[in-house]
Amino acid sequence: MLYNLIKKSSNIVVYTGAGMSTESGLPDFRSSKTGLWEKEDPSAVASTKALNKDVERFFRFYRKRVVDMKDCSPHKGHDILAKWEREGVIKGIITQNVDGFHSVAGSDNVMELHGTLQQVHCQSCGQVYGNEMYEVETFYCTCGGKLRPSVVLFGEGLPEDTFMKASDASEQADLFIVLGSSLTVTPANQFPILAKEQGAKLVIVNLEPTLFDDYADVVIHDRKIGEVLAELDHRLF
Ligand code: APR
Repeated sequence: MLYNLIKKSSNIVVYTGAGMSTESGLPDFRSSKTGLWEKEDPSAVASTKALNKDVERFFRFYRKRVVDMKDCSPHKGHDILAKWEREGVIKGIITQNVDGFHSVAGSDNVMELHGTLQQVHCQSCGQVYGNEMYEVETFYCTCGGKLRPSVVLFGEGLPEDTFMKASDASEQADLFIVLGSSLTVTPANQFPILAKEQGAKLVIVNLEPTLFDDYADVVIHDRKIGEVLAELDHRLF
């Protein structure tokens, strides 16, 4: 079914969430038992409130994510999506992920809705640094300001230009494929709906049920993303 939809579509957009990176070894947020938010309260560690009111805990939380990311790398699924962009199968990827793995795997047209944990910037002067500053526990800029990851924190808006690009891509899509997202966080979760409302077919590949399964034309719950992409790639090429 998904193979046939891909074959007859001419403007395919892929939308990924944290479930895209679990097969690289990074935890997602809401998988029962292993999700990050099973252990931490997001508002206490990943919000503007945490950055301003409990910065030591904020620094600890994000430093651990930077260190964990260094031990992981894109998996076969990321490589396949990069190949599909090069071969013209997909137009691009809208991602909620901040690990940068789509770009590392070679994808070009990647819209990072929630920013990137590959870099940090000074809250005061805006100076940008690599995330290795957190690895070596350097949490302050030479100007004295706090260094924070260049991610969208709870309490912040999405980057305007990326939001517009993702909206355009979603509106033009004739096939919108969600990979590994519970689709619980707004406004990022609006893009699948926008695509569907503009006439796209909607496919959701996710191990657990999502908020928008009822809207989807195809739902795949019982298979991992890596396996689904490998099988499709084998049939397409
Ligand atoms: N294959 C398929 N699905 C998977 C896999 C896999 N290998 N691994 C995990 N999943 C599914 C899980 O069942 C889960 O429903 O991926 C989904 C990931 O959902 P979340 O953990 O909620 O992650 P995401 O949807 O990306 O969260 C959105 O929330 O906390 C914020 O900023 C954070 O960007 C994040 C946003």
